[in-house]
Amino acid sequence: MLKSHLAKSEEEALARAKEIGYPVVIKIVSPDIVHKVDVGGVKLDIEDARELQLQYRQILANVKAARPDAAIWGVLVQEFIRGGKETIIGLKHDPHFGPLLMFGLGGIYVEALRDVTFRMAPIRELGAYRMIQQIRSYKILEGFRGEPPADIDAIAECLERLSQLAMDFQEILELDINPLMVFEKGRGARVVDARILI
Ligand SMILES: Nc1ncnc2c1ncn2[C@@H]1O[C@H](COP(=O)(O)OP(=O)(O)OP(=O)(O)O)[C@@H](O)[C@H]1O
Ligand SMILES: [Mg+2]
Repeated sequence: MLKSHLAKSEEEALARAKEIGYPVVIKIVSPDIVHKVDVGGVKLDIEDARELQLQYRQILANVKAARPDAAIWGVLVQEFIRGGKETIIGLKHDPHFGPLLMFGLGGIYVEALRDVTFRMAPIRELGAYRMIQQIRSYKILEGFRGEPPADIDAIAECLERLSQLAMDFQEILELDINPLMVFEKGRGARVVDARILI
């Protein structure tokens, strides 16, 4: 997980950002807003307190304009990371098959291609690697045209853990980690955004 804190005021956001260290990201937190970007509720790569103050006011204004009735719990202040490849891992409860695990590449272009694989939980190590190898854009993870390979072991471990979570908590109807940012081989992966439906 990335370092992040919920802030309920501008002062608190400033204090949290200082603790986390710039650059930071801020995101609206509301039970009524699932896609935060669509309502202008996400600001990336904020470099200092001045910019944070401006952007904090901006996202509250954006959200108020787009969704005047939404309940606002606060603003999430999160560390900003760069350099990873965006992937998606998830879980869906199928009424007939039980928990289904999902894996795919992220980012707006790849998401549009719907290049994802599914597998019934539970999976073990081999199943996790198979899922990852099954996507059509697997080459992008292996390292394409001189790019370094991504940390596929880290993705496999996340999928295995998600599988275990699904088996332990059948009440999870849906879980989406989008994106799971994957770094170079050996450098792991980080959850940037997640939501869960119980
Ligand atoms: N902490 C971060 N560091 C770097 N990039 C980030 C960070 N948080 C978000 N992003 C970028 O911004 C995008 C949108 O952020 P996020 O997923 O939190 O919003 P969202 O509205 O929930 O999006 P979606 O509806 O697609 O899930 C991410 O896919 C990622 O590219
Ligand atoms: Mg998201």
